[in-house]
Amino acid sequence: MNKQCTIILSLVGLIVFNFTFCTKATLEETTPPPTDSLLTVTYTNDIAPLFQANCTPCHFGSNPTASVDLNDYASTVFAVENQQLLNAITNNSNPMPPSGLMSEQNRALVTQWVDDQMPEN
Ligand code: HEC
Repeated sequence: MNKQCTIILSLVGLIVFNFTFCTKATLEETTPPPTDSLLTVTYTNDIAPLFQANCTPCHFGSNPTASVDLNDYASTVFAVENQQLLNAITNNSNPMPPSGLMSEQNRALVTQWVDDQMPEN
């Protein structure tokens, strides 16, 4: 092997090494942080327990107040789509629950769930 050949091989080696290295670094940067999946709001894990804690007893049981029924998924979706649920939990003039609006964090959970098309899981 002559000197010129050695130089060319070294350069090729350097380029291949850099390419591998840089591609890997770029991939790592664009991979979303794993915590993203934890931010998915679900009916079973988030919304049902939240309403059970804050809307009891009025909107539960066999005769829910103002016919706003939060007993199950389908009824809750109905309340969002037809009974102004989002407005009721964010509007201070007639707040739900009547004792005062829930924490900002709880309201944000409900809003996100609605924005996410109200997943049932
Ligand atoms: C202490 C009983 C009580 C609790 C707790 C309560 N509500 Fe109500 N809710 C009422 C009453 C009474 C009405 C009907 C009169 C009114 O609109 O003020 C009502 C009405 C509503 C309406 C209809 C509003 C409209 O504009 O037509 C919605 C939606 C609602 N509640 C959702 C909720 C949600 C969601 C919660 C929990 C975060 C909740 N409520 C907690 C008593 C309650």
